[in-house]
Order: sequence, then C-alpha cells, then structure tokens
Amino acid sequence: MALEVENAKLPYLSKCRLIKQGAEARVYRGTFLGKPTIIKERFSKRYRHPVLDEKLTHRRTTQEVRSILRCRKAGISTPVVYFVDYTSHCIFLEDLEGSITVRDHIASSQESGRDPVCLNTLAEQIGKILAKMHDEDVVHGDLTTSNMLLRQGSGDAKPELVLIDFGLSFYSALPEDKGVDLYVLEKAFLSTHPNTEELFQRLLKSYTQSSKKAAAVIKKLDEVRLRGRKRSMVG
Ligand SMILES: Nc1ncnc2c1ncn2[C@@H]1O[C@H](COP(=O)(O)OP(=O)(O)OP(=O)(O)O)[C@@H](O)[C@H]1O
Ligand SMILES: [Mg+2]
Repeated sequence: MALEVENAKLPYLSKCRLIKQGAEARVYRGTFLGKPTIIKERFSKRYRHPVLDEKLTHRRTTQEVRSILRCRKAGISTPVVYFVDYTSHCIFLEDLEGSITVRDHIASSQESGRDPVCLNTLAEQIGKILAKMHDEDVVHGDLTTSNMLLRQGSGDAKPELVLIDFGLSFYSALPEDKGVDLYVLEKAFLSTHPNTEELFQRLLKSYTQSSKKAAAVIKKLDEVRLRGRKRSMVG
C-alpha cells in the first residue's frame, strides 16, 4: 500500500503491514526468519533537537529491550525479542497472534454482562504480574490496559497475560516510582473502564499479597493520590 511504502524508512518495512501509527512509534506486522513478527519502529521527532532526539529514541529502544529481557528472565510474560536494529530503532518482537488487549477484553465483558468472576480473576492476575515486575525493580512507565495483552491458551487453559510497550520503562527500587506506576494505571483504568473501582481494589489486593515490598509502594500510592487530589483542587 502506498502509505506503508511511503512511511517505511527501510526496505523490509515496505513488505510489512502498518497496524498502529503512534506519536512516537509505528507498529508493523510482518515476518522475520519465517516467524510472524511485530516490528516497532521509533521515528525522529522533527521538533526536537536532532542530537537530543537521537539520544531519546535510542534510550527508549534500549530500555524497551532491556526491560523485556529482565522480565522474561524473571518468568514474567512479555514477547520474545527476535532482533534489534539500533540504527533504524526497530525492535522485532514475537507476534502474539490472536491476542487481544486487556482493554478490549474488559470492554466487551462489561458490554455483554458476561461472568464478572472472570474479570475478578483477571484483576488478580494483573496485580500478581505487576508485583513480580516491581520486585524485579522494573517500573513500566506507561501502565494502561492497552499495554497488556491476553493470549488465548490451548483448550480450556486460562488466557495468559502478557505485558508490552516498555518504551518508557526504567529500573528503580524506589517505592515512590512503583507507587507512581500504579497511580498511572489506576487513572487509566478507572477512566477507560467505568464502574471498575472494586475491580481495581481487587487488583491492588492481589498486588499486596504477591509482593513483600508492597506496603511501602501502597503507602506511596496513597501519597501520590493525595497530591493529585490537592493539585486538582487548586486547579
Ligand atoms: N508482540 C505483539 N503481539 C501482538 N500485538 C502486538 C504486539 N506488540 C504490540 N501489539 C499491538 O500493537 C499495539 C501497539 O503496540 P505498543 O503498545 O507496543 O506501541 P505504542 O502504544 O504505539 O507505543 P508508544 O507507547 O511508544 O506510543 C498494541 O496495543 C497491540 O495491539
Ligand atoms: Mg501502547
């Protein structure tokens, strides 16, 4: 398609299908060594100084790859990294074919009024995976229900929860950073999915039960919430 060829900086991208054009990255679907592959290409932002732009783009690419590898080492599901091209800032990732975002899953479950127990189980699953990630000192930086995928298991197996989009992630052992990570998710979660306060509480409960370091993080989350509220009252 004309759009794809025009956008593609690299010959191999011209053979791929553009699936998402974001503000910072384009996501393509294609193949790599015969395997279904997602290619995430970070592009330059013309309004940024070229040196700063290169630095930022490079940092996001390396952080995304590093955090994915660190998570995978700890047994947290994230896509396999097949290849990284640091010149064109492209990451080649395992394509989780047939997966859906947690966002779409919650929305369709709410719409159809299907079994709320499933959503409770999902919230617990999310709390658990985030506790594990934070215990590895990985802070995601952009936690939303769009950055979590559900991969259908075979047969009756429970769908697997997979974390994606680590471009804004960083390493930190600070409860404050982890608290902010949860705060970002809380804001996104409650604004995307109406009437899910209880569901989110369930997520936090599961987080608390899964991480030994949770008490300090939840304390920070409370502080950050308070700060947020004060700011909105001041206007
Ligand atoms: N490994 C993957 N397998 C299947 N689908 C994926 C995979 N990675 C991304 N996607 C799909 O592409 C969408 C966008 O991917 P991603 O969140 O990584 O990029 P983005 O949000 O554009 O990044 P940014 O935060 O830099 O703007 C996801 O919501 C998902 O639907
Ligand atoms: Mg995303």
